Amino acid sequence: MYIWSPMARTVLPKSVFMFMIICFIFFAVDGNPFGSSSKIHGPATTGYKEEKLSHFRVYWHDIASGRNPTAVPVAAAATTNKSATGFGGVIVIDDPLTEGPELSSKLVGKAQGLYTLASQNDVSLLMAMNFAFMEGKYNGSSITILGRNSVFLKVREMPVIGGSGLFRFARGYVQASTYKFNPRTGDAIVEYNVFVFHY
Ligand SMILES: *[C@@H]1O[C@H](CO)[C@@H](O)[C@H](O)[C@H]1NC(C)=O
Ligand SMILES: *[C@@H]1O[C@H](CO)[C@@H](O)[C@H](O)[C@H]1NC(C)=O
Repeated sequence: MYIWSPMARTVLPKSVFMFMIICFIFFAVDGNPFGSSSKIHGPATTGYKEEKLSHFRVYWHDIASGRNPTAVPVAAAATTNKSATGFGGVIVIDDPLTEGPELSSKLVGKAQGLYTLASQNDVSLLMAMNFAFMEGKYNGSSITILGRNSVFLKVREMPVIGGSGLFRFARGYVQASTYKFNPRTGDAIVEYNVFVFHY
């Protein structure tokens, strides 16, 4: 059976005509017949609540010495041990994150990733690490930090560039300040204040 379509000014099979009608309805309702990817995602469309700012503090334990170091050098340039700033060294970390400054205080997660000594003139690190949380409601969630850490500055700021779990869509920054550094062993305890927007 054929019907006449005023739009196409031609004779179309009824099924083609119906398909066009359905496409038109979807387009009219959604503005995009192929899904809603081009739309602005507000709370109503995504199911996420309002974005919020969280602030929390953890202590980062970089343990270079002893029988179970959590910071291990994995690579260096031929010139690294001649450089006063360790330029070219790469250290992989699985550093405990605790609630208080003592290592014996509650473990809330691990800082996993690496840092590179990336300056010839001062001790400035490129840090690329995840804070993998292991406690309370944040257990299983993580944030990703990528930034410059000039370790002798009192406060170093690094961007939070993303996250997972409860930290999906995370963006923000951390402020790191050294709590304790032992130049003999290389062990360091650093206070991290994390400021992060997420849902
Ligand atoms: C520097 O590293 C090279 C190669 O690993 C090693 O042979 C040399 O002893 C090191 N020099 C110093 C001063 O540690
Ligand atoms: C965190 O989650 C893991 C995996 O789901 C679980 O095994 C562990 O017991 C949890 N830790 C805490 C402190 O809740």
